[in-house]
Amino acid sequence: MADYSNDIMFITGGASGAGFGQAQVFGRAGAAIVVADIRREAVDEAVAKLSAEGIRAHGIQLDICDRAAYTAAADEVERVFGRTITILSNTAGVNSFGPVERTTYDDYDWIIDVNLNGVINGMVTVVPRMIEAGVPAKIVTVSSLGGLGGSPLAAPYSAAKAAVVNLMESYSMSLSKYGIDVSVVCPANIKSNIADATKLRPVDKANSGYVENEASRASLESIHQHGMTPEILAQHIMNGLEAKQLYIIPYPECRGMVEARFNQILEAFPAMDTDPEAQMRADALMNWGANGAKVFFEEK
Ligand SMILES: NC(=O)c1ccc[n+]([C@@H]2O[C@H](COP(=O)([O-])OP(=O)(O)OC[C@H]3O[C@@H](n4cnc5c(N)ncnc54)[C@H](O)[C@@H]3O)[C@@H](O)[C@H]2O)c1
Repeated sequence: MADYSNDIMFITGGASGAGFGQAQVFGRAGAAIVVADIRREAVDEAVAKLSAEGIRAHGIQLDICDRAAYTAAADEVERVFGRTITILSNTAGVNSFGPVERTTYDDYDWIIDVNLNGVINGMVTVVPRMIEAGVPAKIVTVSSLGGLGGSPLAAPYSAAKAAVVNLMESYSMSLSKYGIDVSVVCPANIKSNIADATKLRPVDKANSGYVENEASRASLESIHQHGMTPEILAQHIMNGLEAKQLYIIPYPECRGMVEARFNQILEAFPAMDTDPEAQMRADALMNWGANGAKVFFEEK
């Protein structure tokens, strides 16, 4: 196991489920933990539990959708620890289920705001600080298996989770030159409290097209209660980060599903020799990558 005693790990959604699991596992390995979560009481409880285990833990109530608050949280970490975050874990997320054709603007706005914009806010706030600090750092974002394919019952969630997979690919390509490793986790089911996420829905995004009642909650609970425990998932995340894996998907039982989707995509490509202009297009792209794109790397 790597030495985490110099690490400051900032975990969004750190008060519950997959976030709290990482707090325990990385905290036990020596990292100082910042629990950043929208629920104040849950933050305090999480910090108390971690501290009782001897883990260095600091709590910040943060709504990751609030950019000014995110900046203030990053400043607070630097004040408290005297240096910046070395491991950013974008774990906070919410979901709500219902048919795509009944999805309202409020369903889209809330779910995409937390699951995509919240991650973007983390990246824009923290990445420049990591680059400036100039020490090796890591970023891990919790997406979902739902981000690797469409979903008729969780369309906004799948779209946001697909976007963060793609976003982490872009950051991974760009940040390795600064010694910053980027990973994205695509879990299937986790034993967590995400079935309660709708309690966190803001009042200005309350107009949902989905059915939410005891039966819908129980239906979700039936999946999550059999999920991977947050601590086991966190151990997989730790192993993946240490192996510098871009994708961390510790659910072998779901491989076939993803394989079928990617095979369908690959089958959509015609054979090269059926299109005489294909080589010309390919050359244009290659040349642009080698030379033409340089202009975009210049300082503004
Ligand atoms: N539970 C699953 O089966 C499952 C499967 C795949 C992916 N995931 C993903 O795992 C991640 C963790 O979720 P979980 O299952 O542990 O759920 P959870 O509800 O137990 O934990 C999520 C935490 O995020 C916090 N949160 C929600 N909105 C926030 C906001 N705007 N700002 C800050 N904190 C906020 C909540 O208060 C909660 O403590 C999420 O990104 C989720 O989408 C979960």
